[in-house]
Amino acid sequence: MRERMVVLVSGTGSNLQALQAACQQREVPGFVAGVVGDRPCPALEWAGSMNIPWTMVEPGNFESRDKWSRALLERLLEVQADVVISAGFMKILAPLFVDWYYGRLINVHPSLLPAFPGAHAVRDALAAGVKVTGSTVHFIDHLVDHGPIIMQEPVRVEDNDTELSLHERIKAVEHQMLPQACAALLENRVVLDGDRAYIRTL
Ligand code: GRF
Repeated sequence: MRERMVVLVSGTGSNLQALQAACQQREVPGFVAGVVGDRPCPALEWAGSMNIPWTMVEPGNFESRDKWSRALLERLLEVQADVVISAGFMKILAPLFVDWYYGRLINVHPSLLPAFPGAHAVRDALAAGVKVTGSTVHFIDHLVDHGPIIMQEPVRVEDNDTELSLHERIKAVEHQMLPQACAALLENRVVLDGDRAYIRTL
């Protein structure tokens, strides 16, 4: 049975906190077995304060993305990750890592992919003047912010939105959606069918 989740982080960690809360409420049938960051960040501090095992693997300490990704993979094997969740993780994983966990490696991205991939999805959506954006949970493949989509939720853009205000509303949606996607993944209810994924209901 899949139950051990490892969360990859680089920033605030609000999705990590939402996932942990959902586990404690038993809305997700598993637990956060570890948190791995690529740099010092509030998400790692929070993991420490909650006694969740955490570790930092900084790319700067490695000669190449491959070597760094291999070190990351070793940490995840030590923690025996069943499912790996990239939640605000700002680094691109090497193919060897993606291949190892393909189908058990997901990302949450603050736009309705394939619109607005990249590090400034919320800013780009505002600049484009779209009236609706949102968030996507998807399997990670070899391209950036790309792979079979598991869940998406829309968020309306208000006329007076700033990047911050819009991102806050998107995160509120993510805090509900990510735990649901993780629950489905742990329960083996996510079906991968080529480039498409869908969630089977019980
Ligand atoms: C989220 O909006 C997520 O979609 C994006 O980065 C943000 C991370 O937020 N990839 P947090 O660190 O979970 O608060």
